[in-house]
Amino acid sequence: MVDLLLPGAPAPLPIAAVCFDAYGTLLDVHSAVARVAASSNRTAAPDRFDSLSALWRDKQLAYTWLRNSMRCHADFATVTADALDHALAAYGLDGDAALRTALLDAYRSLSPYPEVPEALRRLRAAGVPLAVLSNGTPEMLARGLANAGIAALLDAVISVEELGVFKPVPEVYALATRRFGVPARRILFISANGWDVHGAASFGCTVVHLNRQQAAAERLPGRPAHVLADLAPLPELFHGNFE
Ligand code: LAC
Repeated sequence: MVDLLLPGAPAPLPIAAVCFDAYGTLLDVHSAVARVAASSNRTAAPDRFDSLSALWRDKQLAYTWLRNSMRCHADFATVTADALDHALAAYGLDGDAALRTALLDAYRSLSPYPEVPEALRRLRAAGVPLAVLSNGTPEMLARGLANAGIAALLDAVISVEELGVFKPVPEVYALATRRFGVPARRILFISANGWDVHGAASFGCTVVHLNRQQAAAERLPGRPAHVLADLAPLPELFHGNFE
């Protein structure tokens, strides 16, 4: 256990592991479209690519929630491709098979957010066990985290595919407590996705909202214990473990 001291908290909390969401938190989901747009000689306006990327992400998440409600699970690779097909059709690009292939390829090797590798290295050097808990399939996560250069820094990569249901179903967050054999409050869960923050907090995890987009707070059950703009200051919150 390592001691986490959150600003304003009366005492340090022993934490068994820090569990990160993957997509949008460690891996930049918009880097796929950005990379393909920059590397091709496509003439579409840059803001059109930004809107395509935003719609792709919005639909990907909506399909996970809808499939949970419909009890019609398909894995995250399928949902990601379905969401891309919707977005391409919405922009009149559904005939562009080469673009579809390039975007799905790029999604398998998303860039990490710039501060992520160094923050993970510092946490790991201080003896903090690190994990990922994600909607991604084991294959997507293994490849994506390795391509981002951060796979070797993680003690565990937990995929919802063990259960065949997506976040924010409580049983998904229980995969982390079971893996580390501790009560939920001893798991520090970190996500940049507001709805995921509330899912984990409502389950009972200690949660840091990585509010990269400075989004307004969601009105949902559960509360984050702390909010950060990016991961860089996180290592300082682990009390007494740094020189
Ligand atoms: C994940 C999605 C929610 O990695 O970003 O689980």
